[in-house]
Amino acid sequence: MTIKNFLLPPEIIYGAGAVENTGAATRKLKGNKALIVTDEVMVNTGLVEKVIRGLENSGLGYSIYDQVSMEPTIEFVEEGLGVYKQNECDCIVAVGGGSPIDAAKAIAVMVNNPGSIKDYMGIEKIKYKGAPLMAVPTTAGTGSEATRVTIITDTSTDTKMLLLSSHLTPDVAVVDPLLTLSKPKGLTAATGIDALTHAIEAYVSIKAQPLTDIYALSAIKLISGNLRQAWANGNNLEARENTMLGSLQAGIAFSNSSVALVHGMSRPIGANFHVAHGDSNAALLGEVMEFSVIGNPARFARIALAMGENIEGLTNLEAAEKAVTAVKRLISDIKIPSLKELGVNRKELERLAPKMAADAINSGSPGNNPRQATEEEIINLYKLAYGQ
Ligand SMILES: [Fe+2]
Repeated sequence: MTIKNFLLPPEIIYGAGAVENTGAATRKLKGNKALIVTDEVMVNTGLVEKVIRGLENSGLGYSIYDQVSMEPTIEFVEEGLGVYKQNECDCIVAVGGGSPIDAAKAIAVMVNNPGSIKDYMGIEKIKYKGAPLMAVPTTAGTGSEATRVTIITDTSTDTKMLLLSSHLTPDVAVVDPLLTLSKPKGLTAATGIDALTHAIEAYVSIKAQPLTDIYALSAIKLISGNLRQAWANGNNLEARENTMLGSLQAGIAFSNSSVALVHGMSRPIGANFHVAHGDSNAALLGEVMEFSVIGNPARFARIALAMGENIEGLTNLEAAEKAVTAVKRLISDIKIPSLKELGVNRKELERLAPKMAADAINSGSPGNNPRQATEEEIINLYKLAYGQ
């Protein structure tokens, strides 16, 4: 066996009511005044209030930066860092979906590293550990609370920069399914499919390893077995708990074995058409799986099994095809919109597809796919995902 590396946040606090522990956990990080990085919706819906109560109960101070309303840009990172310094904070608590958590990761490392976040794009470029960081996800999707990855948009070039570094792993992840109860159906669906994509890509990635396989298969089982129920009734706590646990496990898996072609192709859709990350993944997942199965039919067959499909007596390839149809059925059941329904213009997509395909390949993620894709094949997959 070749030598592998496997990283987790040093502390994960999870379960209904976990958010009450934010104060004690911040104390353990030796923080006295936290910068809460979030968005206005989190403030208005009272979710930030729950974190503030936790901090106050432990006698801690805080300031709030609540402007991360969309996928984070270099400007958000700089602005947030300014608020951190101005208010003399000494730790960061991220509250929200992937955007505030990704922004907070970048702000935290920029506390102790010189220059611009742009200088650290790529793999393990960050030299020094950042400010102590706690991540409190409010969606069951990105898994960002458990990963060493952040995605920051460079608006001057409309590209999504991928930064991967052990210094980006949060010190504490607080995973509380009660925070997801109020989420609307569309968000539950999109974030849930994002999490499922993490698990599937982590499992079929050429960088998969025995430890990530355990988390990835468990996540596939939890998400595919509970997402419909969480979507159908947002107050189904058991379904919410299981999808959130699945999302956490999927985050741990992909952080250590990487995502692949779906994510590589998804980021340029987000950057060019401002489609939410989960929606663009969901639009691609079925077609990309269908394209990829012949690269590793045995692994896709085990995905079918984890999704509860009966594969007895089937060849690996036949079973792998069952995984593709099971995923497409799930996407259809929870009414994930197509790229067309999301407002993507077909002509514009055709015009931009060659650049998007090149950007996808340059991101490195497609290189982890079990079937390698050429630029032409990626362009064709964009067309297939758009639909009729
Ligand atoms: Fe993702």
